[in-house]
This record gives sequence, C-alpha cells and structure tokens, in this order.
Amino acid sequence: MIRRHCASAEETRAAGEAFAEVLSPGDVVVLSGRLGAGKTTFAQGVARGLGVRERVTSPTFTLVRPHACANPRGIATLYHADVYRAGSLAEVLDLDLTELVEEAAVALVEWGETAAPVFGDVLSVTLKDDETEGRDLFVDGALALARDDVLKAWAEQ
Ligand SMILES: Nc1ncnc2c1ncn2[C@@H]1O[C@H](COP(=O)(O)OP(=O)(O)OP(=O)(O)O)[C@@H](O)[C@H]1O
Ligand SMILES: [Mg+2]
Repeated sequence: MIRRHCASAEETRAAGEAFAEVLSPGDVVVLSGRLGAGKTTFAQGVARGLGVRERVTSPTFTLVRPHACANPRGIATLYHADVYRAGSLAEVLDLDLTELVEEAAVALVEWGETAAPVFGDVLSVTLKDDETEGRDLFVDGALALARDDVLKAWAEQ
C-alpha cells in the first residue's frame, strides 16, 4: 500500500499537486475519509497541479463541477464531485462520470467509495488522521497497481 504523510493542510495540498503527475485522461479518483479529513484540500492541490486557475471549493449545490485545466498531460477538464448528499446510487450513476472522463478529463469524487464499483478501475485516496494535525494518505485501487512506480516516487517526495 502506498502511504504519504502530510503534517499540515498545505502539505496535503502539495501532495495533491504532485498527484497530478500520476493522472492520465480518463482517470476516476475516489477520495475517502471522515468529514473534514481534507478531501477538498487534496482536490485543490490536484487542481493546482493540473493548471486549474479558478478556486476549487466544495461543490455544495451541484454534485459535480467542471474546471478547465491547462497542463501538458492531455487533461483538459477536472470534474470535482462530492456525492455526500446524493440520495441514491442511481443519482451518482446519473452523473455519468465514467463517460465524462472519456473526453480528455479526470474526475475526483469525494465520498465516492460506495459508488466505486460502478466507476470501473479507479485510484482510491483515503485520508486518515494521525495523532496530531497530520493526515496519512493511502492510495490503492485497481489503477494504483498499474501505476506502482510513479506512485512510489510520489510517496517518497
Ligand atoms: N494535514 C491536513 N490535511 C488536510 N486538511 C487539514 C490538515 N490539517 C488541518 N486541516 C484542515 O482540515 C480541514 C479539511 O477540510 P476539507 O474541506 O478539505 O475536508 P473534506 O474532507 O473535504 O470535508 P467534507 O467531508 O466536509 O467534504 C481544513 O480546514 C484544513 O485546513
Ligand atoms: Mg469536501
């Protein structure tokens, strides 16, 4: 299992920024962890790494929000979803995230773990508290196996 420790919110953001290097068009990333674990903070870092210029906040009124990207990775759009308030799995399916990411995009899905099976192969990032302000980030999922080398490099930064 890939693990990276983040002592502060800014380190979690930096971990997200570097995580952009792991991503390819078509990826779905499921973000898990308790309320306030730092999922949006991590997403803000990924957005920075993908060259998103606007501010990334929790998508409160819509479940998913697109952000235009500028990067050399061929990722034109970041879909940031938070399915905490989704009423059912059908509502998550209706977002069509798997289809959306086929168009040179990636999706980050907060609270997506229950829907993960319908997303196909995903990268999964789980944020856990340590004894202080810090978080341990654990990466797994079917896509993680295929990206083991680049993820190990990310974990060792
Ligand atoms: N090491 C850390 N990593 C991430 N966030 C941290 C850390 N230490 C403190 N924080 C703070 O914890 C809060 C995390 O909020 P954030 O919105 O990112 O969590 P979330 O998991 O998206 O919450 P929600 O479940 O409501 O969507 C922020 O206020 C952030 O500054
Ligand atoms: Mg959030």
